[in-house]
Amino acid sequence: ADLNLQEIHDTLISVAHEAGRMMLAANPTDIDTGTKLNSADIVTETDKAVETLVSKRLSAAYPSFEFVGEETYKPGVTKVTSAPTFIVDPIDGTTNFVHGFPSACISLGFAVDRAPAVGVVYNPWLDQLWTAIHGQGAFLTVGAVWGLEGGKGRRQKLPLAKNPAPLAGLDTALVGIEWGSSRDGVNYEVKTEVFKKLCASKETGGVMVHSLRSMGSAALNLCAVAAGSLDLYWEGGCWAWDVCAGWAILTEAGGIMAGGNPGDWEPTIDGRKYLAVRGAASGQKDIVEAFWKVVGTGR
Ligand code: IPD
Repeated sequence: ADLNLQEIHDTLISVAHEAGRMMLAANPTDIDTGTKLNSADIVTETDKAVETLVSKRLSAAYPSFEFVGEETYKPGVTKVTSAPTFIVDPIDGTTNFVHGFPSACISLGFAVDRAPAVGVVYNPWLDQLWTAIHGQGAFLTVGAVWGLEGGKGRRQKLPLAKNPAPLAGLDTALVGIEWGSSRDGVNYEVKTEVFKKLCASKETGGVMVHSLRSMGSAALNLCAVAAGSLDLYWEGGCWAWDVCAGWAILTEAGGIMAGGNPGDWEPTIDGRKYLAVRGAASGQKDIVEAFWKVVGTGR
C-alpha cells in the first residue's frame, strides 16, 4: 500500500509538540533518575513517560506499523525489520536534560525497508523543529509554539546557506563528536586517539580542525550538520533511535551519511558507527576519505 508520508510527518510533529510540553513541565532536579549500563548512561522517569505517550499516540494512529523505542528496546529481541517502523528516542540528550543544559530533543524517525523516510526532531527549550520527508527537502522551523510569524514559526530550508562551498580540508572544519557512555577499553582508546589527532597541530601529528563541539544529542548533531552549522559529526556507539530521524534530515539537506570506519559507504540503521558530512555541490567524498584517514584502520 502507498504510504502517506506527509500525513505521517504531520502526525509526528503533533506528537513532538505534545512530548515537548511534557519535557518542559518536568523538573529534572527532582525527578527520578537512574542509570543503565554505567554511571554515564542515564535514564529518567520522563524518558519513560514520553516514550509511553508516543507509542500510545502512534499505535492509535497507525496500528499496523512497528515501533522501536529506546526505553522498551530488548537486546537481542528488538530488531528493525523492513516493515514500516517508527524509531523513537523519547529524550535524546538525557544527560543535558538532567543538567538543565538546553540541548535535548525528541527524535521521531520513520523507516521503510530499513531506510529513514521521515524525520522529526524537536528541541522544546529552543522551540526548534527539524523535519524532512524523503524526496521533499529538510526544514528548520523556529518559534511556531512560541507564536512567532503568526504561529507558523520561522521556516527555513536546509542547509541554511544557499550554495554552501565545499570544505577545502579538515583544517577548516568544525567537527561534532561525543564521548557517549562507553568509556573503557578499545572504545576509549579509539575515541581519545581520534579526538587528539583532530585537534593537534600538524607539527604535533594532527590535522588541527577549527574545533570540536558536542551537542550532547546524536539527533541534534545530525541536524546541525544538515544545517551546515557543523561540517562533520563522527560517533561510534549510537543506536537506531539516535540516528533515524536525523539521518532523514541530513540526507534531505544534501549531506552524506557514511559509516564511522574507513571504507563504509553504506552504513545501516543499526550499524552503530557514523560519519555525517554537510552538503556541498561537489558531494565532499574527499572529506569523508580524509576523515577516515584520521580514524585509521586495524580494528
Ligand atoms: C545519547 C546521546 C549522546 C550520544 C549517545 C546517545 P540518549 O542518547 O545522543 O549524545 O553520544 O551515543 O546514546 O541516551 O541521550 O538518548
